[in-house]
Amino acid sequence: MSRVFVRRLRLGAAFVLLAYLILHFANHALGLVSLEAMGAGRWWFLALWRSAPGTLALYGAITAHGLLALWLLYDRRTLRMPPWEATQYAIGLLLPALLVVHVVSTRIAWWRFGVDDPYQRIVLGLSLQSPEFGARQTLTLVLAWLHACIGVHYWLRFRSWYPRALPWLFTVALLLPTLALLGFVVAGREVAALARTPGWTEAMLRSVHAAGPAEAARLVAIRRGFLDTYLIALVVVFTARGGRRLLERRRSIRIAYPNGRVVIAPGGFTILEASRLAGIPHASVCGGRGRCSTCRVRIVGGLEGLPPPREAERRVLARVGAAPDVRLACQTRPAGDVAVEPLLAPSVVPAEAFGTDVRQGREQELAVLFADLRGFTRMAENKLPYDVVFLLNRYFEAVGTAITGAGGVTNQFTGDGVMALFGIESGPAAGSRQALVAARAMVERVNALSAELAGDLPTPLRIGIGIHAGPAVVGRMGWGESFYLTAVGDTVHVAARLEQATKDYAAELVVSEDVARHATLDLSHFPAHDLSVRNRAGKVAIRVIDHVTNLPTI
Ligand code: HEM
Ligand code: FES
Repeated sequence: MSRVFVRRLRLGAAFVLLAYLILHFANHALGLVSLEAMGAGRWWFLALWRSAPGTLALYGAITAHGLLALWLLYDRRTLRMPPWEATQYAIGLLLPALLVVHVVSTRIAWWRFGVDDPYQRIVLGLSLQSPEFGARQTLTLVLAWLHACIGVHYWLRFRSWYPRALPWLFTVALLLPTLALLGFVVAGREVAALARTPGWTEAMLRSVHAAGPAEAARLVAIRRGFLDTYLIALVVVFTARGGRRLLERRRSIRIAYPNGRVVIAPGGFTILEASRLAGIPHASVCGGRGRCSTCRVRIVGGLEGLPPPREAERRVLARVGAAPDVRLACQTRPAGDVAVEPLLAPSVVPAEAFGTDVRQGREQELAVLFADLRGFTRMAENKLPYDVVFLLNRYFEAVGTAITGAGGVTNQFTGDGVMALFGIESGPAAGSRQALVAARAMVERVNALSAELAGDLPTPLRIGIGIHAGPAVVGRMGWGESFYLTAVGDTVHVAARLEQATKDYAAELVVSEDVARHATLDLSHFPAHDLSVRNRAGKVAIRVIDHVTNLPTI
């Protein structure tokens, strides 16, 4: 099974369970309206989850999530982990034991013996007849929700949009279980009032099919069987871990860190697990799930002895534009001795790694523009050096003011080329629009400059501009005096290629379809092409704009 598949399955299953929990809680919350509303909600809830596709999705997700959790417990070489991760694991492993009574007495009882479980009966049972079950159910509900919230938080927290969404998500995370519990309490009061009416309880119980003594005994046996199987599975996992440990101890590996520390770890450990084993602080924002890239290390010795990165790791490394000697510490299990250099400070927090402080470097979506003066080298051959510098500075002034005027950041002036970033703060949609506005202004200003210097120029100045939008790693990079805000990664590479393509198409501007989509601009009347880009799988869909003045109003 490939790791990409495992990761997708893990998330897919977790989200089916999350959807189930959310709808289940929403249904309980209807108790705040009335028992009747709760019952109506339940009809829809059951129509979904007791249908064939719903059953398949839910029980498939429970099985997949449970089995993967056990597999991951086996796969990790050390149980040392940050407190949040330990909490998630502990609750996750406790949940089957807590949930089994509820699941067996509702779904399994219905499935095997046609037992009805309307809210009246469940509420009566949990709040009046056996409040200790009610308390346990409340605890289970809170723990399941906490477990899911930790999972979602650590899954998403290094996304650039997450800090903005956090207050909303946090509000929902607090409100939903609170409303669900309140709904249950209010429904409990309503049932208690009804139960005071003589004969109501008996009539209600008579109207629903309850389990008889033989069926109840069978359900208890099913519950025991499930708990025993689960316990055996846990024992098997821990025994297998122990056995593997004995085997792997025999072939230990040495991992050297920059401060001269050397960790001797059993073979099979990831570099991150070795750091954790030795108590060496090591950034791992996603908890070693191969998503955030903050654990990445430069391999300064023993690179040749490392197994090549698998698909999942390769994707994350490509996303951050990592060099070939950089690996994810959480995904790399060295077969021999290695020397590593962690690339991010251990104290890195998501906001620093990918969040709000761009100086630290973060991955985000933005628009990147490249521009170049056409035929400038030939023109410069016939000019005095002083004139070349003068002309270039006037040109940079013209394009630079056009870029900053549109809200972009001029990033690099190299030769007669310029690179600019748009949407660092505002995102790719605003960035794409700003870049297109800048392109128009750049051409206008260069034309004005040409007109002004017409007497000194053999031919008018012409520029070619390429714009692409997508994810890139943005940060202040450089050394000594030359520190500037720049971006690296595939998006930058593609934007540079689009600028070169303006020569092939003799056009002023080439933009990717991604830019048009982000800017919500209809460019369908401009010629479309698919462009191949070196070292990149798949082609880039582009639009060729001969003259920027033909662009629709932005
Ligand atoms: C009640 C419904 C449940 C929901 C909504 C839920 C949700 C989640 C979510 C969202 C994650 C994070 C997924 C990820 O990072 O890939 C997660 C991880 C986890 N869950 Fe659950 N879960 C549930 C039940 C369970 C149960 C019953 C178990 C135990 C068998 C369990 C064990 C785990 C473990 C051990 C992890 C961490 C796995 C890892 O290292 O990535 N969960 N869960
Ligand atoms: S810890 Fe997040 S990718 Fe390694």
